[in-house]
Parts: sequence; structure tokens; C-alpha cells
Amino acid sequence: MIDVTLESVSKRFPRAGDTAAVDDVDLRIAAGEFFTLLGPSGCGKTTTLRMVAGFYFPSSGRIRFGAEDVTNRPPNKRDTGMVFQNYALFPHLSVAQNVAYGLKIRKVGRADAKRRVDEALGEVHLAGYGDRRIDQLSGGQQQRVALARALVIRPRTLLLDEPLSNLDAKLREETRVEIRRIQKDSGTTALYVTHDQAEAMAMSDRIAVMESGRVRQVGTPQEIYHRPATAFVARFIGRSNVLSVPVVTAGPDTVTVALPGGREVPVAAPADHGLHEGGTAQVSVRPEHITLGAATDEDAITGRVTELEFTGMATNLLVDVGGGEPVQVTAIDVPARIAVGDQVGLRLPAERMWVVAA
Ligand SMILES: Nc1ncnc2c1ncn2[C@@H]1O[C@H](COP(=O)(O)OP(=O)(O)OP(=O)(O)O)[C@@H](O)[C@H]1O
Ligand SMILES: [Mg+2]
Repeated sequence: MIDVTLESVSKRFPRAGDTAAVDDVDLRIAAGEFFTLLGPSGCGKTTTLRMVAGFYFPSSGRIRFGAEDVTNRPPNKRDTGMVFQNYALFPHLSVAQNVAYGLKIRKVGRADAKRRVDEALGEVHLAGYGDRRIDQLSGGQQQRVALARALVIRPRTLLLDEPLSNLDAKLREETRVEIRRIQKDSGTTALYVTHDQAEAMAMSDRIAVMESGRVRQVGTPQEIYHRPATAFVARFIGRSNVLSVPVVTAGPDTVTVALPGGREVPVAAPADHGLHEGGTAQVSVRPEHITLGAATDEDAITGRVTELEFTGMATNLLVDVGGGEPVQVTAIDVPARIAVGDQVGLRLPAERMWVVAA
């Protein structure tokens, strides 16, 4: 078990212009932690992971494993296990030979290697599959072979780049539970990359949300969901409304804003919100926290339903409140008589709202 630190790490690729693929990233991943880099395509997740693995060297900044500076050390001197997106298994070798590969390179003796391969296959629930060929396995089984191959060398850090993206939805959910179990059992520090927010939330101790090469927020799944730092994070983690509303008064950790329709409510804000009376605040509120009622309800924001979609578990509505983006609402129980074009009343609970950076 070892902690991993990135200090002001940037990566600029030659001939890629002035924009940095990874821009001044600071992260501290605790020993034994399951830590995820989450963000949209092209935000710099793989580039960051490859710098930790040693396949790329940073243009500036330092990377440390514990107190050791590994910034310029080649991959085979870092003691990391890597699981690539496409698994990168050797199709002509058996399962056991694939898993033993890293041990052979490290010149581990035959008997010891066999014992460790068996142990690793047991950990990923593939005991007895050693003699199978890779093309005789399902996608999920291949994924677990890749994991066993990374684990068998007992790496100090386990690095995983979208390892579930080739699996179907059901297998993906099963396998993510298993990866998490194996990581916790082995106690290895894990750095995981995905663009799937549900996967990140389900698996991670903490998440770093990235956008355009920068880390926008680091926190537990709960912190990032309930207290998103920016409008981007609020929208990327699940669905969220971000309302632009006038500031009535601004205090150190609370900002009173005027909602559409004029009702004034106090909303929690981060200490560095920088807002003033007369300015405009960005306030996030989740669709499932808004309650739907009649247009005549006291304290409700009135609006007109422009879209309505029944998904089985809930109903999603878009409500035009006059100006700005339509408000998204998710409700479990929607009276059957409500239809597109109807006037409705929305209640936005102040305690569920949160000021985000623009
Ligand atoms: N070898 C390279 N040379 C030049 N530019 C690169 C190179 N590798 C990545 N980039 C650029 O760096 C940025 C970040 O790429 P990266 O692969 O890290 O993104 P990502 O977050 O992993 O995206 P995805 O989810 O699509 O895998 C992108 O703009 C990409 O085009
Ligand atoms: Mg990638």
C-alpha cells in the first residue's frame, strides 16, 4: 500500500499547439484508496494515468509514490499493474501464461509463479481456467484475466483505464462490484479512469472530475453529487438544473436569491463564492428534489409543461418558467391528468439548493 501524489503536473504534446492535455493537476491519492478520474472524452484522463504508469513523462511537475520521486522512472521500475481499455491480452497464450507474463519478466521461479498465478486466478473467480485459450472466454472473463495479470505482480498501485467499456450493461455492473472487492481485499491503491458517472460513483472512495485538462473538483461521491463546485460538475454528475438568479443579499456561507416568480430564498454557498448584492448567482438543484403541484399553490414557481416522458420508475418533465432554460423535474408520482401544455407549480426546496461557480 502506498500513497500517490501529483504536484502541479502538466503535459503538453509536441505539435499539439499551446493547449495542455493535462494542465497543472494536483492530486493526493491515499494508500489503499479507490480513486477515480472522471470526465468527458478528451479531458486528459488517459494522459494523467499514463504519466502515473510511466508511459508518458510530464512536461512539468512531480509524481511521487510515497516519498519516492518516480517522475522520470520508466514503467517497469514503478511496480504498477495496468489494465488497459482493450485488455491487451496475448491471444495465442493460455489464461495461465497470460497471467504469468509479468512474473516471467521478473524472473520469479517456476513453482512460486505457479502458486501465485493460481492465487490470482482464484481472486478473480477463475480458478480452473488456467489452461483455457483467451478466445474461449467471454468478455467479462477476459476482463478478469487482465485484472489477474495486473494483480499477480502484487503492484503497489493498480491503474485501470476504462476496463469495463467493452462489456454489456449487466456484466459491467457485476464486474464493477468485483473490481472494487478485489481492490479492497488486496489493499492496493487504485487509480481508475472512466467517463461514466454512475460507475465512478458506485466504485470510488473519491473522484476527481476533470474538464479540459484541469481538475475541477475532488471529493467523495456524496460531496460531488450534493455539493458540486461548478455548473459543469453539477451537470456532468447526473442531471442538474443550474438557474441564473439575482442576488438579493450575500453572506459568508449563504446567499439570498430571487427565484423565478420573485420568491426570495437563502441558499448555501461555498466560502469563496465572491457574490454581491445585485449580482447573478448560479444555483444548482437536482430534478428529483423539485416537487410538482398546482399552479395556484402558494410559494410555487408557475410554469408550462413543454415535455413529458414516462420512464417506468419516474416521469421526467421540462417546465418553461418564462426566461432561461426550462426546468427539469423528475417525479415518481405524477397525476395522470398532467399533459404537455398544462400550467403547473414547482416547489424548489432551499435546503437542497447550492450555489455553484459559473
Ligand atoms: N499522443 C498524443 N499527441 C497529441 N495529443 C494527444 C496525444 N494523446 C492525447 N492527446 C490529446 O490530449 C487530450 C487528452 O487526451 P486523453 O487521451 O488524455 O483524453 P481522455 O480523457 O482519456 O479521453 P477519452 O475519454 O476519449 O479516452 C486530447 O485533446 C487529445 O487529443
Ligand atoms: Mg482515455
